[in-house]
Amino acid sequence: MLPIPNSIQPLEGEFRLEKMTFITCNQDALFEAEKLGKQLGIPVQVSPAVTNSIHLELHSAFENQEAYRLEIHSDGVRIFASGAAGLFYAGITLLQAGSSCAIIEDAPRFAWRGSHLDVVRHFMPLEFLYRFVDLLALHKLNTLHLHLTDDQGWRLEIKQYPRLTEIGAWRQQTRVGHELSENKTFDGQPHGGFYTQTQMRELVAYALERHVRIVPEIEMPGHATAALAAYPEFGNTKKAPEVAPNWGVFESIFSPEETTFAFLEDVLTEVLEIFPSPYIHIGGDECPKKEWQESAVAQSILKQNHLEDEEELQSYVVGRINTFLKSKGRKMIGWDEILEGGLVDGATVMSWRGEEGGIIAAKAGHDVVMTPGTHVYFDHYQTENPDLEPLAIGGCTTLEKVYSYEPIPAELTELEGQHVLGSQAQLWTEYMPNPAHVERMAFPRLCALSEVLWTKPESRDYMDFLKRLEPHLEKLNVNHFKNFKS
Ligand code: ACM
Repeated sequence: MLPIPNSIQPLEGEFRLEKMTFITCNQDALFEAEKLGKQLGIPVQVSPAVTNSIHLELHSAFENQEAYRLEIHSDGVRIFASGAAGLFYAGITLLQAGSSCAIIEDAPRFAWRGSHLDVVRHFMPLEFLYRFVDLLALHKLNTLHLHLTDDQGWRLEIKQYPRLTEIGAWRQQTRVGHELSENKTFDGQPHGGFYTQTQMRELVAYALERHVRIVPEIEMPGHATAALAAYPEFGNTKKAPEVAPNWGVFESIFSPEETTFAFLEDVLTEVLEIFPSPYIHIGGDECPKKEWQESAVAQSILKQNHLEDEEELQSYVVGRINTFLKSKGRKMIGWDEILEGGLVDGATVMSWRGEEGGIIAAKAGHDVVMTPGTHVYFDHYQTENPDLEPLAIGGCTTLEKVYSYEPIPAELTELEGQHVLGSQAQLWTEYMPNPAHVERMAFPRLCALSEVLWTKPESRDYMDFLKRLEPHLEKLNVNHFKNFKS
């Protein structure tokens, strides 16, 4: 079982899935029961438990909607949960449990468990997003953070602004080799693609059925080159840059004018209609202020609003968007740069430049998702010996290091620690040209992270994890890094 359940009490005897003739359930559990029934090829009936049935029952005994109790007896299986997610996770555990009888009581340690996926630097086919959702769900991960816009592409249809995808979804070519290498060559191949709103709505529904929430990220005010290639009027220079063919941090950023706010709010209005997620990610990272320093318009907006400097201007922009999202009943989340120039009311922080930003935010009473480069950037190499691995951005994050990650920093009090919602993997795809490569970087590190986020530290053990990992990977049938023990 992976992630390993928090409590397993072994019982005498064996259960045989072939003997389980029915799925029985109470009315409230019917939707989940039918999903499990379809998966196992067993009919479902709303009725009390009977001998040799797998019985699902939804009632209000648990506080946590993702918690469950799974009783595996030789003459029947009994599943109890207070939320559909709990029933779903019990089903996953049941399929992993083999034939051992046991009583399993389980609940996740953290509420935010997931992975980010950058579909900009390399466009990922829609079928892969479905597969990735399945892989997340199998690990009881409940969040897919989709990085949809950046300098190298805009990947979501926006009906009011068709040029975002007509122009912004395509770059002329892509940098070959590492960005920092001497030899600055390009492949000469146009690269791009985008998802229609219908495609995304269908993906969102599919993910929700598997209890995976999709958090969309629309980058602002920086990482905006592709948007500005399509609509230069929302930039500072009013000149269209090219959709970036290489990697890094770019100077073209959104202007802080009212026309830009109208544009961003129009875009977000469409985004909110597609993604029901309570959290909307607005990026906020790596925003060079040169254009704002040089723009008379930006400087006059800075003065009109009595702001000290460009950092405060960034806070002003982020604050306006926060107010807009709040008015629509959503919560804003952004990378830890949103702390610079003052953190806006109610924002959730994703702490990527180490844990410092997350600690400051949690101490100030803000919710935090811990995503430090040191432990959960899966674009890093997986061993100390990069020469034996395909080209990656750098760094070294081994499987063991991921497994050792503790998302609640020791500096936080117990109360402050409750602001740590959880963590997620980061899959930036500059050096991951296709789904197979993404899988190879994600696995098995995502298996380790799933256990960090689900299972309490006292129930986890790395050597035991490694023993369970090999058969788990075999069953998963996923492309994965093989040399993870070195
Ligand atoms: C980031 O890695 N720029 C959030």
